[in-house]
Amino acid sequence: MKTTVSLIKADIGSIGGHIRTSDEILDLCKKKLQEEKGKLLIDFYVTRCGDDVELLMTHESGVDAKEIHSLAWDTFKEGAELAKEQGLYGAGQDLLSDAFSGNVRGMGPGICEMEFEERPAEVIIAFMADKTEASAFNLPLYEMFANPFNTAGLVLDPKLHDGFKFEVHDVKGSRKIILDTPEESYDLLALIGLTDIYAVKRVYRKSGEISAVASTEKVNMIAGRYVGKDDPAMLVRAQSGYPATGEIVNPFARPFFIAGWMRGSHRGPIMPVAEKDANPSRFDGPPRIICLSFSMKNGVLSTPVDVFSDVSFDNARRQANEMADYMRRHGPFQPHLLPPGEMEYTTLPEVMKKLESRFEKL
Ligand code: 13P
Ligand code: 13P
Ligand code: MG
Ligand code: MG
Repeated sequence: MKTTVSLIKADIGSIGGHIRTSDEILDLCKKKLQEEKGKLLIDFYVTRCGDDVELLMTHESGVDAKEIHSLAWDTFKEGAELAKEQGLYGAGQDLLSDAFSGNVRGMGPGICEMEFEERPAEVIIAFMADKTEASAFNLPLYEMFANPFNTAGLVLDPKLHDGFKFEVHDVKGSRKIILDTPEESYDLLALIGLTDIYAVKRVYRKSGEISAVASTEKVNMIAGRYVGKDDPAMLVRAQSGYPATGEIVNPFARPFFIAGWMRGSHRGPIMPVAEKDANPSRFDGPPRIICLSFSMKNGVLSTPVDVFSDVSFDNARRQANEMADYMRRHGPFQPHLLPPGEMEYTTLPEVMKKLESRFEKL
């Protein structure tokens, strides 16, 4: 039996700014998906990272299935109505169109989906981030699937020894390329280090099975104006032919800088936190990521392990807070501030327009 795992997410409104969605919205989403359990869905899990609602669903309809996307869209729509009633901030923020045509791609929500033949003990890890963008996963995906200093299995495990394939998207140029590791590691790094242009969309085993998929939708490019950051999600398979869970989560023990903090216009550290602590507050951050590890049998999900709640990520949080202090000291200066092409806030062009006539030739 082939199982599909779909993680579809959207910011449909949040309490007290961009901090967190409401429990009532999460309850509404759970109720909507519960009605489809045993029908459209095999199983589901609803959570949030900051102000982003995350619908994790298992089913047999395949990727890009109209009925699954409709269910997610209708759930977000109803949630956005409730957000309006509750007076939540940015109600319906990521629902960019009223004309749903069978697929949420290009409509605002972020999507990552994978279909595969289940292994006897299937492990699915869901990463969900707030106040950042899809390319924030470039560095950790490289570490998980291509860096033997992170993933011992690349050296020790014959099933991983051949390496992996990376599908890289040029998110500005609407094109993609597939690169093999370890053979083309340096070519891969030459691209994915440019996080404003390239994002890793999928990783495959050399034999073709899907290993990881990330949401790479760029909300502001769809809307043509600033409407919030893309706040990505990602699914990764673990163990038996894939990196071990411990190898997959290890890259987040060493915080790194990513784009997307405050107004989508600042660089900051990504901080791994427990589900309950995904409440980006200071300067709307620092950017957060949560990680839930599930076992799955015939599409039925176990209770997840809240991976980043573990004490072994305490140092990462402390370091991320220190990195946040350093960055915040720069105030409106780069490198805290992103370069103009990367900034998501659109007020800067207006300021520049006002000053334009006062510039004199040197
Ligand atoms: P086991 O020998 O317990 O399967 O462990 C292998 C492994 O995945 C270690 O990370
Ligand atoms: P979100 O993309 O999470 O809604 O954040 C918007 C923002 O401007 C935060 O400062
Ligand atoms: Mg928001
Ligand atoms: Mg968000």
